[in-house]
Amino acid sequence: MRSPSRRISATALASLLWLGAGLQEGSDDAQPPPIVFSPPRALDGALERVAVDDLACAACHVAIADEWSRSLHAYAFEDPVYQKEIRRKRRRASCLGCHVPVPLHAPAEGATPRARPAPREDTSEDPHRFGVSCSSCHLGAQGKILGPFGAPTDAHVSERHPSFVGTGSNALCLACHSTTIGPVIGIGKDFEQAGRSERCIDCHMQPLERPLATSPASEAGGPSPPARAGRSHFLQGPRDPAFLAQAFVVEEVRHADGELLVRIGNRAGHRVPGLTLRTLELRLEGGEEGPASRRRIDHEAWLPVGGSFVLRTRGTDRARLVGHHTAPGAPAPVRFLDLELR
Ligand code: HEC
Ligand code: HEC
Ligand code: HEC
Ligand code: HEC
Ligand code: HEC
Repeated sequence: MRSPSRRISATALASLLWLGAGLQEGSDDAQPPPIVFSPPRALDGALERVAVDDLACAACHVAIADEWSRSLHAYAFEDPVYQKEIRRKRRRASCLGCHVPVPLHAPAEGATPRARPAPREDTSEDPHRFGVSCSSCHLGAQGKILGPFGAPTDAHVSERHPSFVGTGSNALCLACHSTTIGPVIGIGKDFEQAGRSERCIDCHMQPLERPLATSPASEAGGPSPPARAGRSHFLQGPRDPAFLAQAFVVEEVRHADGELLVRIGNRAGHRVPGLTLRTLELRLEGGEEGPASRRRIDHEAWLPVGGSFVLRTRGTDRARLVGHHTAPGAPAPVRFLDLELR
């Protein structure tokens, strides 16, 4: 069997090479290809999936609950990296809001999602260990469930709400992702200022078509609810090497005065990275190595949205572009990029 990291390099490679060909000087209208999605998987390293046995919504929304249980949203409280950081804080309460939020759309009727949400109480229906829970995003006033369709069901009142339709979901993501606090950089602000046409979910939640739920009738062998176009609640994030590689595009490879120059751009919807705890290093291997052939990217030397940088090396007409990622809490750097250039 091929290891996941090998499969990953292949998709990343295709994306980078396409861009190398597509973003030549003067072709302003060249668009990067859509983000490639990897299948949901258990979180890496120390991170395990969150148990959903006592999640009420999981009784019917089996597939969605399974996807969510592998995301950092489900893990926002139990995450050992988070737990370690908050133990060091004197005012721990200021760190709870977005990690164990109250429902963002309740109680005010029709309200836009509340930004910088307050922490919810630790209850048996919605315990802190569910982190950013289903209710945080979907529960409206008077127990209504808000979503993209307003589909009739006996299970609960469903209402179509702007936060789940068209570009409305950006406001939902921005509610928690625009604040700089602790190790977190409010990258949502970059996204807004850049006026991006893609939505957050276009890059982070895979489109899928399937029934949203099982129903008592379908459990008993009767007809299932209809298949509908939706999105995976498994979040693509930088811990996935294949996804992280897609943050970078090779914009130009040039030979001049015995040097090989490679220009690398940022194709994410915001600056890279979004955490003070994350470090990336990109370097050219194969020629003379030195300060000009490598670049460290972190919260002090970050790559702005739409920004780029040049790596150079001498003594070769071909080189490998190699990237390593040191994730928060990770024991060692992980190679996420390995691309042959000439
Ligand atoms: C305004 C909302 C908000 C508040 C308040 C908040 N966080 Fe977060 N936190 C986030 C978001 C959003 C992320 C994901 C950022 C990312 O991965 O780039 C995050 C991620 C983290 C992570 C990284 C987890 C991982 O494994 O990747 C840590 C650690 C963390 N927060 C600690 C804190 C601490 C400490 C505080 C209090 C000082 C705090 N947070 C308060 C929104 C918040
Ligand atoms: C008893 C089964 C059951 C339970 C429990 C349940 N749901 Fe549902 N839900 C359904 C069915 C059935 C549909 C409609 C499916 C369809 O018609 O496509 C639905 C639809 C939805 C929708 C889409 C709303 C829309 O129309 O836009 C959302 C969002 C949703 N549920 C969230 C939740 C959340 C969050 C919970 C837990 C608080 C939950 N559900 C609990 C069965 C259930
Ligand atoms: C209620 C607050 C909240 C909302 C709303 C929210 N997030 Fe998050 N998000 C978080 C927190 C907190 C984390 C980090 C969890 C942790 O590991 O501690 C996170 C993590 C993530 C990550 C993983 C980052 C990584 O380091 O791997 C992505 C991607 C993400 N969110 C995207 C989104 C998108 C897209 C939306 C809108 C559909 C959204 N978020 C809405 C709070 C929120
Ligand atoms: C961070 C916010 C967030 C959380 C947490 C969240 N959802 Fe969603 N959910 C969304 C967004 C955004 C969409 C709309 C996606 C789209 O445009 O297709 C959505 C769509 C849905 C839909 C409609 C079908 C689909 O796949 O798009 C259902 C049903 C649903 N969610 C149920 C749940 C359940 C059950 C949970 C918990 C296991 C949950 N959601 C957790 C943000 C969230
Ligand atoms: C064009 C695709 C694209 C769009 C649009 C996009 N992202 Fe990202 N995002 C990426 C890529 C690629 C990465 C991996 C690079 C990185 O970690 O910064 C990423 C990383 C992240 C991370 C983890 C950052 C870190 O380093 O800890 C979070 C959180 C996140 N995105 C949230 C969002 C939110 C919220 C939005 C909308 C406001 C959004 N993204 C829009 C592609 C996108």
